Amino acid sequence: MFEPKILEVGDIASLIDKIKSDSALHNWQTSDFENSINDETRPIYIIENIGFVAFSKALDEAEILMVWMDPNQRKKGYAKNLLKYSFDNLKTNGVNKIYLEVAIDNIAALNLYIMLGFIEVGKRKNYYKRDNQNIDALILSKSL
Ligand SMILES: CC(C)(COP(=O)(O)OP(=O)(O)OC[C@H]1O[C@@H](n2cnc3c(N)ncnc32)[C@H](O)[C@@H]1OP(=O)(O)O)[C@@H](O)C(=O)NCCC(=O)NCCS
Repeated sequence: MFEPKILEVGDIASLIDKIKSDSALHNWQTSDFENSINDETRPIYIIENIGFVAFSKALDEAEILMVWMDPNQRKKGYAKNLLKYSFDNLKTNGVNKIYLEVAIDNIAALNLYIMLGFIEVGKRKNYYKRDNQNIDALILSKSL
């Protein structure tokens, strides 16, 4: 409990139950989590009952697809711990570079990534649309 680990089949039902209240995660289906278990190019790591981080991995690079923590458990260091754990695990599996995309107004996520040593390597203008507003995306990267 509260220790990061790689996603297992037995974790999926409670994870789906937890994320269903967040509309930002409506694209995440049970099958996405199931498929990750047997697909080394889509690793997912979790802290049980708290949150998850999902990656897409290709050769020596990986991209963070989503990192999400239960809203009631935020600001307790869980995302930081989970990301550090997943980076160590990915590194032992040959990954040496992590990429991600983040909305420029997502201050919590930006602070988290900067704290972990990510740097800006690009910007996508008007990449997200929210409430009829266009929001830029930043591309961040970190060497492992
Ligand atoms: C971003 C998110 C994953 C952070 O999870 P978390 O477990 O609360 O983060 P941590 O407690 O590990 O925080 C680590 C650092 O991130 C930054 N941070 C986290 N939440 C923050 C907030 N609300 N405001 C400002 N900085 C914040 C801080 O620098 C923090 O370090 P500190 O506590 O020493 O100040 C969480 O807010 C979340 O799930 N958000 C919704 C999904 C999302 O936007 N994901 C990112 C998609 S790119």
